[in-house]
Amino acid sequence: MQEKIIILDFGSQTTQLIGRRVRELDTYCEIVPYNKFPKDDDSIKGIILSGSPFSVYDESAFKIELEDIWGKYPILGICYGAQFISYVNGGKVEPAGTREYGRAHLSKFDETNILFKGVRKNTQVWMSHGDTITAIPDNFVSIASTDKVAIAAYQAKVEDVWGVQFHPEVFHSEDGTQILKNFVVDICGCKQDWSPASFVESTVADLRKQLGEDKVVLALSGGVDSSVAAVLLNKAIGSNLTCVFVDHGMLRKDEFKRVMADYECLGLNVIGVDVSEKFFKELAGVTEPEAKRKIIGSGFIDVFDQEAHKLKDVKWLAQGTIYPDCIESLSITGTVIKSHHNVGGLPEKMNLKLCEPLRLLFKDEVRRVGRQLGMPEHLITRHPFPGPGLAVRILGDITPEKVRILQDADDIFIQGLRDWKLYDQVWQAGVILLPVQSVGVMGDERTYERAVALRAVTSTDAMTADWAHLPYDFLGKVSNDIINKVKGVNRVTYDISSKPPSTIEWE
Ligand code: XMP
Repeated sequence: MQEKIIILDFGSQTTQLIGRRVRELDTYCEIVPYNKFPKDDDSIKGIILSGSPFSVYDESAFKIELEDIWGKYPILGICYGAQFISYVNGGKVEPAGTREYGRAHLSKFDETNILFKGVRKNTQVWMSHGDTITAIPDNFVSIASTDKVAIAAYQAKVEDVWGVQFHPEVFHSEDGTQILKNFVVDICGCKQDWSPASFVESTVADLRKQLGEDKVVLALSGGVDSSVAAVLLNKAIGSNLTCVFVDHGMLRKDEFKRVMADYECLGLNVIGVDVSEKFFKELAGVTEPEAKRKIIGSGFIDVFDQEAHKLKDVKWLAQGTIYPDCIESLSITGTVIKSHHNVGGLPEKMNLKLCEPLRLLFKDEVRRVGRQLGMPEHLITRHPFPGPGLAVRILGDITPEKVRILQDADDIFIQGLRDWKLYDQVWQAGVILLPVQSVGVMGDERTYERAVALRAVTSTDAMTADWAHLPYDFLGKVSNDIINKVKGVNRVTYDISSKPPSTIEWE
């Protein structure tokens, strides 16, 4: 049985990061909503309580009955998690005089405490809280302080319970990974046996058992997630897997041909369907971003459904869903910014059983599994690309001519990033066709043509992103090449907005 750590999510923005750090310790973990602790699971070795946007005093704060876990598992509370444990046991939590955000140093800590094994003196930690613990219960001891915070960490004397008010999971906590390792390995006793090789081996065996001789269909997008899912399934069930790759006409230049060739090299059984004409017709005159998404999303489902019905006896639909798509989000406001799950409607429509072999992996783990499976590096490191493709990068209505312009400009930008060895330094890049024309001069001619924006960002998960600080020489060269080679464009701009408050895509 795969041993695991459970992370109870109280809604913090860094909960997923805790999960990633634990996985980086080659230890399997699952993030579950604070009120969904899986009681009857014998493989749980320890529990981490995350931070939260709430104060323990807020009426709507997320609360749990500690009895379910107290004394049964080692527990680590982080930030709100630590405050909550202390508060319900009789400690005091009060608004901090000044809200504590950013860098701090553990000026004093108990070097003999197992949680701090190997932690350097005065180590930097990251604080982010409005409340602070001012008194701990009688049977707790303070084990660390900073200049401003007397109780930066504590241990409950009789139980295997620790609390830290700082965030060991964030990059700026210098010895944060060491602290998490001390908890996961030394305190919980995890064996660190979670690796891409063990994942492939156990998943292939599980898939064979789950699917038997059943037939499976999978929608490929050209992206890393669906490609890795397909190769993994192919290893497990071979020709019982049929993949469908739909060209909706909004792909990058020559993408359909290139990706089909890659898939064939990988030995996948792929049906390529070119329905670009249909989508051009349906999208004609549509300018509203969400309307474009809906047309592509539902049209895609129809095409895929038709193809799947041509196959006989298919019982399963496989998808490259990954962990961040599955973690039940405790969104406090419930605001939907953009509807991303462009294939999200497939399972409801198709009445097939769902198979999601990557649903427990983070993106970087999917890539490691891809390498383990021997997939080519250019497929594994491919930038993310939105399901509706160039449709959400053409502001305003869509025509074949605009798609042609954008494909040509995008191709120059992406190829340039590769030539200048910058491709792997950015999370994602592309060109946006703006709904403006501007005056230019080419030779002796006045021009009145389109403007495009280059967009390149750095990120680790697309939740936040910064504009990539690409060299001016490079930007200059790309701008020149686009204006000289792409008919219809006479101006190039570079987008220097970060997310938030902007988003990566313009629509
Ligand atoms: P935003 O623009 O929200 O994008 O910052 C975050 C990430 O999601 C991708 N994206 C999409 N992916 N269907 C998709 O499959 C969509 O409709 C969609 N919209 C945005 C975007 O490219 C980035 O990686």
